[in-house]
Amino acid sequence: MHLKNISLINFKNYSETSLNFSNQINCFTGDNGEGKTNILDAIHYLSFCKSFFNPIDSQNILHQAPFFVIQGTFENGETPEEIYCGQKRNQKKQFKRNKKEYQRLADHIGLFPLVMISPSDSELITEGSESRRKFLDSVISQFDKDYLENLINYNKVLSQRNALLKHFAHKGSFDKGSLEIWDIQLVELGQKVYETRKKFIDAFLPIFQKYYELISGGKETVSIVYNSHLNNGEYAVILDAALNKDRILEYTTVGIHKDDLEFKLSDFPIKKYASQGQQKSFLIALKLGQYEYIKHIKKTNPILLLDDIYDKLDDNRVRQLMELVSHKDFGQLFITDTHPNRLAELFKHTAADHKIFQVKNGQASEI
Ligand SMILES: Nc1ncnc2c1ncn2[C@@H]1O[C@H](COP(=O)(O)OP(=O)(O)OP(=O)(O)O)[C@@H](O)[C@H]1O
Ligand SMILES: [Mg+2]
Repeated sequence: MHLKNISLINFKNYSETSLNFSNQINCFTGDNGEGKTNILDAIHYLSFCKSFFNPIDSQNILHQAPFFVIQGTFENGETPEEIYCGQKRNQKKQFKRNKKEYQRLADHIGLFPLVMISPSDSELITEGSESRRKFLDSVISQFDKDYLENLINYNKVLSQRNALLKHFAHKGSFDKGSLEIWDIQLVELGQKVYETRKKFIDAFLPIFQKYYELISGGKETVSIVYNSHLNNGEYAVILDAALNKDRILEYTTVGIHKDDLEFKLSDFPIKKYASQGQQKSFLIALKLGQYEYIKHIKKTNPILLLDDIYDKLDDNRVRQLMELVSHKDFGQLFITDTHPNRLAELFKHTAADHKIFQVKNGQASEI
């Protein structure tokens, strides 16, 4: 599966542009702010019906223009697939596949799988546990529909239980029986989510470690530890033991909604001890692990978008990474770089087909 072409009208800083892509490697070079990342974001739209960066669609319309249009042709086997995304100011987004408008955007997602590696991935290290749970959930729910359902139901029951704890505190009353109705469901769903997360991390860890080793040249060892209250025993017992605390604090203090992933470099927390380049290598390995997972499930190579890959990585690591992703195990690739010749130099000796585009002030042309 690959994207053959794209055309943009009034999308971010592009008033009108059409590009034909290589099936293999596509590089975008140009100075800061010229529009390299915007092209990756337009490709992201075609896969996920939305921007990677800005969730407010109308803000992605060229300033002062009345609408934007992104059109692209994917090739999946023999058949071309025409994807259209149109956004007028103050109107609903239109999304079409082969001229037929979707009723539910969710039906499109997953059809043309894509993984984006971007500087904003660093949030996984710098932000709180929620961002790491989100990453975990987004990877697992792509192949396990029951997981997503259990998780949604868990969160519903959790908010009911929390509301009841608050209610008791305000009334100065307590009724164990009515709390237990929620406890039974919470325990069942929470235990299932826990088991799935644990199994996934066990399987994901060696894949992630393989990629880290390839990028770093085997210089360091990394690991991911799954932290959960449920590591300490059955959820039913743990929840029961926390009852007094929950009543005082008026919310559920234990459960999978507090899970976290601990990222480690040679046994030390990555956030505190790893260098910026090591952190970046860690994040890239995480995303490549995700890529391999999706590929395995969808039985097709996802599109890979690499934004600002040189940022913080040394030349050796970039070379390792490029050798890795230009291999036939990976599919179509889109890369940005500010330096005009660096990517061209890297790919000069590879057998892989590649195109280089110069991006300047909202215009991209092949060089
Ligand atoms: N809705 C919009 N209308 C017009 N211009 C926009 C809009 N949204 C973003 N831009 C412009 O797009 C440009 C940023 O483009 P982009 O992020 O693609 O740059 P880049 O080439 O990736 O730069 P860098 O090398 O710094 O990452 C900025 O000049 C910004 O003002
Ligand atoms: Mg950029």
